[in-house]
Amino acid sequence: MAKRKRQGSPRAVIDVPPSDPPVRPGLLSPPRPVPRHIERPPYARTGDPGPSVSSLVRTPEELAAMRRAGRLAAEVLIVAGENLRVGMTTDEIDRIVHEATIERGGYPSPLGYRGYPKSVCTSVNEVICHGIPDSRPLADGDIVNIDVTLYIDGVHGDTSATFMLGDVDEHSQRLVAETRNALELGIAAVRPGAPVNVIGRAIESHARRHGLGVVREFIGHGIGTEFHSRLQIPHYHDRRATTRLEEGMTFTIEPMLTLGRPDVAMWDDEWTAVTLDGRRTAQFEHTLVVTPEGAEKLTVTADGTCAHELFTEPVRR
Ligand code: MF3
Ligand code: CO
Ligand code: CO
Repeated sequence: MAKRKRQGSPRAVIDVPPSDPPVRPGLLSPPRPVPRHIERPPYARTGDPGPSVSSLVRTPEELAAMRRAGRLAAEVLIVAGENLRVGMTTDEIDRIVHEATIERGGYPSPLGYRGYPKSVCTSVNEVICHGIPDSRPLADGDIVNIDVTLYIDGVHGDTSATFMLGDVDEHSQRLVAETRNALELGIAAVRPGAPVNVIGRAIESHARRHGLGVVREFIGHGIGTEFHSRLQIPHYHDRRATTRLEEGMTFTIEPMLTLGRPDVAMWDDEWTAVTLDGRRTAQFEHTLVVTPEGAEKLTVTADGTCAHELFTEPVRR
């Protein structure tokens, strides 16, 4: 057999310019209170989640609670999408998510997690993930990932979508659509008995076909009684990710794809992750449970829908 040249890290086929103007840090609003009657996750007091100790597989009771947490998280993400407007600040998204979460009896899982100061992550344009809501107004042409996690009855539901605002350039529209498709292909690869790396393999080969990069520094994770548990779900092909998928395992898949190179830089706030080359990036996330047939999405509404399906076109408000 002919020897193949060793492939280097993926490179964008089409040269797309950096997002302009770059996103800069804004000002944070004062902390938002959570009413006394809302049950807090164990880390809320100190910020420290401690070592992961939970099982990779859920009990039937935990799974029932996760369906509810997932449904409520899906509802909150839709509320955020319905309220998106050009000119609003990402801090206003935080207020909307905070209130919609509490209205449903949930706790906004990001708040106080390892010292995170807000109730949701809002990641604009070249921000890969963990953007902190602040005073920056959303501009016409922006893309913004809103990442909602809700805690109720002792378990978390975690879901995100990238929304488009107004006149979004063609490359960004393609990035957003193919990142959504990459998540669906990752989900479709799940079956009991397969190694977890089937997920990343499906996502990475899709990204390559479309000339998009895959971020390697942030991965999907086990979730349930803990926000982030031991189980790791890379979004690229990782030969070493050989853990077998088992019925009843719950985890997220949350690929971050890039128009340029997938290398990461961090802001001084130690949360905001941006692309090193300043080109745009998108992300979609679901919480899933492994079933006998494959995977079931937990972060969907009672009628099985979600923001991913409802907001495929740019928001024009
Ligand atoms: N929701 C993010 C995830 O998908 C985690 C956010 S942690 C925070 O895993 F502290 F930044 F909120
Ligand atoms: Co997650
Ligand atoms: Co998330």
